[in-house]
Amino acid sequence: MQLTLARSHAAALEADALIVLDWNTEKGPQRSALSEPLAAFYDSGEITGKFLELTLVHGVAGYQARRVLIAGAGEREKFDAAALRKLAGAAIRLLQGKGVQSVVFGLDQDGLNIPEFVAAAAEGLLLGSWEPDRLKTDKKNDKKSDKSPRPVASVVLATGTVAPSVEAAFDAALDRGVTIGTAANLSRDIAVEPPNILTPMALADRARTMATAAGLSVEVLDQDRMRQLGMGALLGVSQGSAEPPALIVIRYTPATPSADHLGFVGKGVTFDTGGISIKPSDGMEKMKYDMAGAAAVIGAMQALAHLKPSVTVTALIPAVENMPGSKAQRPGDIVTSLSGKTIEVLNTDAEGRLILADAITYAKQLGCTHLIDTATLTGAIVVALGNLSSGAFTNNDGLLAKWMSAAKLAGEKMWHMPLDDEYRDLLKTVYADIGNIGGRYGGACSAAMFIKEFVGDTPWVHVDVAGTAWLDDAKPWLAKGPTGVPLGSFVNLAMNWK
Ligand code: BES
Ligand code: ZN
Ligand code: ZN
Repeated sequence: MQLTLARSHAAALEADALIVLDWNTEKGPQRSALSEPLAAFYDSGEITGKFLELTLVHGVAGYQARRVLIAGAGEREKFDAAALRKLAGAAIRLLQGKGVQSVVFGLDQDGLNIPEFVAAAAEGLLLGSWEPDRLKTDKKNDKKSDKSPRPVASVVLATGTVAPSVEAAFDAALDRGVTIGTAANLSRDIAVEPPNILTPMALADRARTMATAAGLSVEVLDQDRMRQLGMGALLGVSQGSAEPPALIVIRYTPATPSADHLGFVGKGVTFDTGGISIKPSDGMEKMKYDMAGAAAVIGAMQALAHLKPSVTVTALIPAVENMPGSKAQRPGDIVTSLSGKTIEVLNTDAEGRLILADAITYAKQLGCTHLIDTATLTGAIVVALGNLSSGAFTNNDGLLAKWMSAAKLAGEKMWHMPLDDEYRDLLKTVYADIGNIGGRYGGACSAAMFIKEFVGDTPWVHVDVAGTAWLDDAKPWLAKGPTGVPLGSFVNLAMNWK
């Protein structure tokens, strides 16, 4: 989908469809320029302007586009970039199902033509147009999809005339929105790949392809190298699978090297059977998204390569498959991690924290001064927060504050979860330095506490996205499947780093 800016008024532009935002006020819909040609719609109450209400009308007097899609934007006072992102996604998804090819998005109303909204609309349009149908061979006769086999080809964002002094800011905003939206869709393309195709080595290939195209340096540590280094926790998880593991390292270095060095770590379990502590078969196919953290980090690095923040960023992705093969680790095994600490593996399904432990130790060895890890780590976070918010844990309130504002900008909800020292007691074991599970209650917190053991004093935020990285049912603005969360937060954190 081609996205461009036009400094003209939306009504004057010719296209298959024009998207116009319409507001809801307490006294009923606010009368816009459309209320005259569409009086019957407004008078009958068919158009109310409530959020996400979409009304498609052909041949509206005064508009050059063949159709006008009136997109309910809700209350004017509540409207923000996050709302626009959703509305743009919902609008494009509706038009995509109607065979529309060329679209104009009206941002020329008062208050709408600001750079922040250009970025949000671009991002929402790209996110909304994504479909998880790469491997369908007959999209035309696909009964499970309501989408046209021909996606929307072009969208013109019409801002109306803007002062020459701010034109560059609008161009940069479009570039930012397109960059983040494209990166999120790359991340979703990777996350949706089936586990027979997306093995740990294939994940490394995806990272390598991205990095090479984006001009980033990339290195993949193989099993032999990890053995030499002593990554016993990561290798223990991987040993039950015929697929070799990989530790993927992607580096972004700014023109002027920075003192701070961010480490972005993403869990890359390409399939999680649970290992010997095997999961129930019902719904197990979903465990292909246990590498969503890795996918978000890969996408974020693609965006950063283009947007060029002034801080050094290294991405680390431990990639393994958790299988119950004959060489698999057993409950009761004790492994020695890269840090030197010994871990008693009491449940082989708590594998994410094991691979993260070694990746985080390695990140510190590479000189990272601040760490953010993201993982589909626990079912417990889904019990705690549902599918709305990701859980954020930290040992450093300053870094968490930065992460939270980055997330807010991205429209990715985060909830600060507790990490009191007392949670450490849950991980005590007689035979080793630490056990890998913490008992029945507070599972997301004991999992975070386990990771903290390897982080030490380095400022760190852990983001559990088990409930937010995947949508079981489509939303009006987003297809079913991977969401890309928390890619936007990663990008904003690096871009706004001070
Ligand atoms: N990958 C799972 C967590 C998960 C659950 C992700 C649901 C997405 C949706 C993780 O490796 C796991 O199995 N965690 C266990 C930990 C337990 C054994 C302590 C869990 O949450 O049940
Ligand atoms: Zn598991
Ligand atoms: Zn897992």
